[in-house]
Amino acid sequence: MAQEVRGVIAPGKDEPVRIETIVVPDPGPGEAVVRVQACGVCHTDLHYKQGGISDDFPFLLGHEAAGVVEAVGDGVTDVEPGDFVILNWRAVCGKCRACLRGRPWYCFDTHNAEQKMTLTDGTELSPALGIGAFAEKTLVAAGQCTKVDPDVAPQVAGLLGCGVMAGIGAAINTGNVGRGDTVAVIGCGGVGDAAVAGSHLAGAARIIAVDIDDRKLETARTMGATHTVNSRETDPVEAIRDLTGGFGADVVIEAVGRPETYKQAFYARDLAGTVVLVGVPTPEMKLELPLLDVFGRGGALKSSWYGDCLPSRDFPMLIDLHLQGRLDLGAFVTETIQLDEVEKAFERMHHGDVLRSVVVL
Ligand SMILES: NC(=O)c1ccc[n+]([C@@H]2O[C@H](COP(=O)([O-])OP(=O)(O)OC[C@H]3O[C@@H](n4cnc5c(N)ncnc54)[C@H](O)[C@@H]3O)[C@@H](O)[C@H]2O)c1
Ligand SMILES: [Zn+2]
Ligand SMILES: [Zn+2]
Repeated sequence: MAQEVRGVIAPGKDEPVRIETIVVPDPGPGEAVVRVQACGVCHTDLHYKQGGISDDFPFLLGHEAAGVVEAVGDGVTDVEPGDFVILNWRAVCGKCRACLRGRPWYCFDTHNAEQKMTLTDGTELSPALGIGAFAEKTLVAAGQCTKVDPDVAPQVAGLLGCGVMAGIGAAINTGNVGRGDTVAVIGCGGVGDAAVAGSHLAGAARIIAVDIDDRKLETARTMGATHTVNSRETDPVEAIRDLTGGFGADVVIEAVGRPETYKQAFYARDLAGTVVLVGVPTPEMKLELPLLDVFGRGGALKSSWYGDCLPSRDFPMLIDLHLQGRLDLGAFVTETIQLDEVEKAFERMHHGDVLRSVVVL
């Protein structure tokens, strides 16, 4: 029997989000229904609402979630009802060309549920990143459920489902930050701060946090930044070079998603250094760079999809580090809110008042 639950939808471009009754089908083969316990508000949800990702309105928003598996469909063996899971948007297929080459963190054919969740009038919903977890329950592909230690609080665990994993992974997976490296992170929201925390975890010698908001810079310090730069007041490229012996950082992580901050990242890295773009641009943005500089500065210009994470490898490991007191995931939760406060949370995010607002259900 399909169930009716409450969920937050984005009805159309730039329209305010609202709570609607969502029809959640029983799980079919390879699917699972998850009772959502917590779901963080990510900038990507705001991009969806603004029409910056696609026009497939209405969206069922929310994708940084943890909860308990309620029911599974035929053929599901990796999870069972009662399991505490973090939802991921990389359910690896095992068969695409990336998977077959042993690089499943790039999987080009990730799974989502095949059935659609709908409104009560039958309108099909597009779940954000194939998850849609600003809802009491959601239907996903079973591979989107990653079991972790249930001792962790759901509002903390859920954050690994997107932004915090993207940031930590941008540093430790994509950027390959290692002991003794110098790192700069441009944009210190939830994702950037996670990149700071990930760099700290990986043993970076110097971690320079850059933002236009002093409050964000203060928080970045608590995450492990050794130096901070307010790029509204100071040229960040010069500042990063000054803090790295005049050369630039080994790894610069762009966590804003704008051409001007990408350019800063490009010029603030040392020769043969690495730029990691983890911020998500919008379709109209363009980048212009002298091709000779692209060649002459060498190194690597990389994009980081979801922190190049492998959920089955990275989620349980990071939750264990958290439970051991070696990674303070709780520091990312600025506030917990109710389902009907998502619109307000977008405003607070827009004004830079929060690192993460987390809906608890
Ligand atoms: N690659 C991925 O897989 C992935 C996953 C999740 C989120 N993201 C993206 O990462 C980006 C950051 O997400 P978030 O949730 O941390 O957002 P956020 O709004 O919490 O943080 C953005 C930060 O950038 C700062 N900022 C804005 N303009 C700036 C500028 N010109 N210079 C320096 N700092 C500036 C803001 O003050 C804020 O602290 C977004 O584009 C989001 O869509 C990417
Ligand atoms: Zn694959
Ligand atoms: Zn996200």
